[in-house]
Amino acid sequence: MTQTRVDHRKNDAPTNVTDDVQPRTADDRSGKVDETPFTTADNTQPNTLEISPKTTNSIPPKRKTEEMFSLVRYFAFGMIGSLAIFAIISVGIHLYKNSLDLENTYPQNNHAFDIGTTATEDFDTLIGQDPEAATEPDYSDIYDAIDQSKQHNAQTPPASPPPASTDTYWGYPATILPCTRSGDDLLVLVNKSYQLPADYYPTDLVAVTDSGLRVSRSGMYIRSIVIDDLAALRAAVATEGIDLTVLSAFRSYAVQSSTYTYWVNYNGGSIDAADKISARPGHSQHQLGTTLDFSTNEIADQLGQHFANTRAGVWLAAHAWEYGFALAYPQGWEAATGYSFEPWHFRYIGRENAARWHASGLILEVWLRGENGV
Ligand code: DAL
Ligand code: ZN
Repeated sequence: MTQTRVDHRKNDAPTNVTDDVQPRTADDRSGKVDETPFTTADNTQPNTLEISPKTTNSIPPKRKTEEMFSLVRYFAFGMIGSLAIFAIISVGIHLYKNSLDLENTYPQNNHAFDIGTTATEDFDTLIGQDPEAATEPDYSDIYDAIDQSKQHNAQTPPASPPPASTDTYWGYPATILPCTRSGDDLLVLVNKSYQLPADYYPTDLVAVTDSGLRVSRSGMYIRSIVIDDLAALRAAVATEGIDLTVLSAFRSYAVQSSTYTYWVNYNGGSIDAADKISARPGHSQHQLGTTLDFSTNEIADQLGQHFANTRAGVWLAAHAWEYGFALAYPQGWEAATGYSFEPWHFRYIGRENAARWHASGLILEVWLRGENGV
């Protein structure tokens, strides 16, 4: 920039007395009336006043103007730069504060949820703020929850009558305990009492599609330990001519927090209603990376209790255990599981464990309590 300005002065403004003593015409006076005392009648005469010491040593008016413009430019650039830095810092502080808000979406054992916004607004906000954005760019679980809610609205009543115990759900106890086993353990008990750490994150996640199963959307993950048996299950289902798809798989603590908050909002702020269909963060088997929600083309890949009556739902209920999968929330056991019947929700515990579980005749929740000694 400096180089340009120097060249410009050389070309346009006289910098020594020799330049300045050239005869001037009336046109040259433009803008210089106050400092050039000759008249148009005298415009062919040398301007002797211009070679006086005063004129020689003073800054030519044109140069003064340019310097003034330079100062204005500096000032303008400075102002713009300062505003830009201020804006960047403000946005940074805002995003940081919002990320803290997100992490605090679910205060432990306290019902102070933000239920003032609509679900859509809530999720729009979360999508922009999720602190896991770098490692988990896919927010499909959130969209999935939104889709599920729409389907929930449109859902027809299940063919079978609701169980008598639906008003006796097991609720969250006053004291929440940490899981007694690692999240990596296939038999870790995760329920309304026992909570996974917020930072528990399986380290061997792979794409669900590695199993060959159809998925309702991209970006779903499951632990690699599940893949072979899931692929075998898929092959067995295909042999029967049954379609099977995966609607949801691994959900991090943060995504579960978003999902749960969504369901609270969806139910008009009712914690009790949300607690019957969605786990609070840290309490979901989906955080283990071993749990899948299934559907089928028979019900247009919807999620709902009508899945129980589809060929896929019936087959899974009878045979999933042979491949290491257990139905976690069976019908009629809300008092023990704490959740409504979820015929689509299967947790992988491994083939040998599943065989022992199946032979016990217990529901998974009760059997796992025994395995965990509680
Ligand atoms: N819907 C089940 C309970 C979950 O949110 O993990
Ligand atoms: Zn599920």
